[in-house]
Amino acid sequence: MSSVLRSAVTGVGGFLPPTVVTNADLEKIVDTNDAWITERTGIRSRRRADEGQFTSDLAAEAAKRALAAAGRAAGDVDLIIVATTTPDLTFPATAVIVQRKLGAPVGIAFDVQAVCSGFVYALSVADGFVARGLAKCALVIGAETMSRLMDWTDRGTCVLFGDGAGAVVLEPVAGQGTTADRGLLGFALRADGTKQDLLYVDGGPSSTGTVGKLRMQGNHVFKHAVINIAEAVEAAAEAAGIAVADVDWFIPHQANQRILAGVAHRLGVSEDRVVSTIADHANTSAASIPLALSKAVEDGRVKPGQLLLMEAMGGGLTWGACALRL
Ligand code: ACO
Repeated sequence: MSSVLRSAVTGVGGFLPPTVVTNADLEKIVDTNDAWITERTGIRSRRRADEGQFTSDLAAEAAKRALAAAGRAAGDVDLIIVATTTPDLTFPATAVIVQRKLGAPVGIAFDVQAVCSGFVYALSVADGFVARGLAKCALVIGAETMSRLMDWTDRGTCVLFGDGAGAVVLEPVAGQGTTADRGLLGFALRADGTKQDLLYVDGGPSSTGTVGKLRMQGNHVFKHAVINIAEAVEAAAEAAGIAVADVDWFIPHQANQRILAGVAHRLGVSEDRVVSTIADHANTSAASIPLALSKAVEDGRVKPGQLLLMEAMGGGLTWGACALRL
């Protein structure tokens, strides 16, 4: 077996802003009810960033926790990638702001924009640096303040989203080029721009000069989600050389409990191998996978050496999956 460099997850961290918004709180704002939200989505509450609390603040907190878990300091970080669709500013990249807030040294820092699939996309980009020896201590962060993109008069969307951040530290480790290696093992990334109208934000610097609000044809997105995600999971498993049945834990993007269940059913996977945080986090877009991972690592479900499969679908449409051994 030849020796290869792998990008290994050596630390995981998550951060949720303290303000909790329950379904009952939303009943006071729009014509909705706890029963509808719970039955159709599985969501019971979500967090909301306070005024003056930005995506970079959430990202920096999650990053600090991931660095501590990895036994690394901000001074070690040479690459920061933030997956976000809610940057603090149009520019500079939120990653650069996080770099400053962490006190990390001059290095590489930029954002990746693939909406809810952003974290999976960002991991694949980071892998290109770490597994080539171009970065020794990378932070890959998913961070969002989705509450800032909501139309608070649209009950079809405003009940679904939440704010938060999750981060992982990636470091190069020597592997044998086999599926027993620790690290990122295989990816499948997809995008289909013809489906843009199903899920988008109706503003931007070059078109309207405004931030815009999130618009979604939820039922149409739903129909694509289960099929697309299941295909990407199987393709990522194949790229990694593993069988879907060998996966210890599925760490999905948290959009809807019914999507999680539908994908598990299509793949023939038991739902008790699927990490779900949707009830308390709602859909935190690019943050949802690393947040779910940090929760499952924290509560001891996910352990070093286990085989994980992350998957997501979101605006673009974009979707993808990543197989890794922790
Ligand atoms: N409270 C009460 N009733 C509601 C609410 C609400 N919050 N929202 C919608 N309804 C009503 C609708 O008006 C509709 O009423 P009608 O039948 O009288 O017209 C009815 O409920 C059914 O609406 P649907 O949209 O068909 O409901 P559906 O079962 O599809 O559930 C949902 C909607 C939860 C949005 C679902 O379609 C979904 O999860 N879609 C996928 C979302 C997703 O995966 N997004 C991708 C990631 S997000 C990203 O990338 C940023």
